[in-house]
Amino acid sequence: MTEDEQKLAAAKEAVTHITDGMVVGLGTGSTAAKMVDLVGEKVKNGLDIIAVPTSEATASQAKKLGIKVVGLDEVSVIDLTIDGTDEVDPQMRLIKGGGGAHLREKIVASLSDKMIVIAENKKMVEKLGKFKLPVEVIPFASGALLPKMEALGCQPSLRMQGDKLFYTDENNLIIDCAFEQIEDPEELALTLSTIPGVVEHGLFIDYADLVLIGTDEGVKQFERS
Ligand code: 5RP
Repeated sequence: MTEDEQKLAAAKEAVTHITDGMVVGLGTGSTAAKMVDLVGEKVKNGLDIIAVPTSEATASQAKKLGIKVVGLDEVSVIDLTIDGTDEVDPQMRLIKGGGGAHLREKIVASLSDKMIVIAENKKMVEKLGKFKLPVEVIPFASGALLPKMEALGCQPSLRMQGDKLFYTDENNLIIDCAFEQIEDPEELALTLSTIPGVVEHGLFIDYADLVLIGTDEGVKQFERS
């Protein structure tokens, strides 16, 4: 199976959890985009749901597919969110934000009754940190925060898009932090959350309820106990 086929297999399994009447959080990224396409097909075939997208890109894709899209202020509960990931470890802790959407993704996931994470096999890691940890910061603080991030033991770099700075949907910047290995994700998450100017980091701890990984042997499922 190619990586794309693994992503699609995980996405197909995930959308079986969507039922009529649900409010569904739609993630961001290439894996989530496959899931959104599948949701679009289901809606065309009569599925009745409301969706809360986690980025402008996902909102635009969903609208084109005829999925009813609403903002957070229009729903009281999100039943299920399905999203991709950049890394997942054996404790189902995640690094997200490769697509720069982790701020809205974390807000939507935090308001969801259930979060299903979908990914290809290579996203499963023994230890988080090989993927650079995205940290969203307000532009005013970015210069001052680079050395702060370095002091935490990583090699920080401002995310670029071509020769320009990358701006998130919330008009913030992203510092990508190359840790190589994150020994204590909980402690790092707490530390990052207390730094003024940091809006949100890409460590998702205790968010994933079900992880679906596409592999050559089928879709592996990991459930939070
Ligand atoms: C976006 C994300 C994505 O879910 C993550 O980057 C995975 O993306 P892909 O499915 O394209 O590998 O967190 O902010």
